[in-house]
Amino acid sequence: MKKRVFSGIQPTGDIHIGNYLGAIKYWVAMQENYDNIFCIVDLHAVTVPQDPKILHRKIREVSGLLLAAGIDPKRSILFIQSHVCAHSELAWLLNCFIPMGWMQRMTQFKEKSGTQKEQVSVGLFDYPALMAADILIYDTQVVPVGEDQKQHVELARDTAQRFNSIYGETFTLPEPLIPNVGARIMGLDDPTKKMSKSETGTNHAINLLDTPEIIRAKFARATTDSLREIRFDEKRPGIYNLLTIYQTFSGRSKEEIEAQFEGKGYGDFKKALAEVVIEGLRPLQERYKELTADPTRIDAILAEGAERARPLAAKTLERVQKKIGLG
Ligand code: TYM
Repeated sequence: MKKRVFSGIQPTGDIHIGNYLGAIKYWVAMQENYDNIFCIVDLHAVTVPQDPKILHRKIREVSGLLLAAGIDPKRSILFIQSHVCAHSELAWLLNCFIPMGWMQRMTQFKEKSGTQKEQVSVGLFDYPALMAADILIYDTQVVPVGEDQKQHVELARDTAQRFNSIYGETFTLPEPLIPNVGARIMGLDDPTKKMSKSETGTNHAINLLDTPEIIRAKFARATTDSLREIRFDEKRPGIYNLLTIYQTFSGRSKEEIEAQFEGKGYGDFKKALAEVVIEGLRPLQERYKELTADPTRIDAILAEGAERARPLAAKTLERVQKKIGLG
């Protein structure tokens, strides 16, 4: 029996190389040896205000990008979260078992709510409960995510454990799977901040659909430091981040890369980096163009994905409802 994998991505903003290197690339590779379910989490997206037309378009765009990156609908289930209502139902039930104290410790809520704590939606606060439902409803064993989602996956695991200790074995305990390299790609404009879809700075992120000209210009402007040496030194976050991006796209080792750029300047390195990323994204961008030429194709794949996910989710929900004594 192959292990069950579940992971999700929000259809907001533009998908960037952080999402790709921290998550999507691994999802594609894991199709070989795991039983995979991937989800476009539109219900998570609406925890902050969204323009309905843009959201609808972004859901198709992200789906297209996942398919173009190599998610194969024959081997993996790909669907939209709101198409399987059992996620929301289980989230409600989990809400009744997750202590407030656990939720209050979630660092991403603290960051996202900032100084606006009274104004943000209850949904934003409750976001990790819905994420726990996404994971637990498919008896997920492995959750491949970037580092920023680790705490949320741990909350899902703690929730499963708590529920099981009250009602007996009900949920499978999930584990996060975080890549060794690429789990936390930083912003190009500020390498002390994670690359994020919600940052609006034009020079913050390399998006998967950026043209070669844009990629070259963004890397040329990326923040580095006043030193010269091109080395993997974590104390120099700008160059370290760029080197990490080079490492993941080129597949070369740290030593090889340092030797390659020995005695060269930042300008030369940035040019080489842009080319390796442009070449790395080229096949994905070409497949994306082909796929989106027929807009009905993506919708058909998503509808089929939901058809396959629904019975799996319904089975777990029924098991939980019975344990609790509902109905
Ligand atoms: P989201 O949409 O913010 O990000 C999707 C994936 O990309 C990873 N990621 C990064 N990795 C490396 N460097 C970065 N700068 C970077 N930014 C983002 C994220 O860690 C994630 O793996 N809450 C989730 C979506 C979700 C989910 C789930 C994930 C909903 N339900 C269940 C797993 C399981 C989110 O907002 O991801």
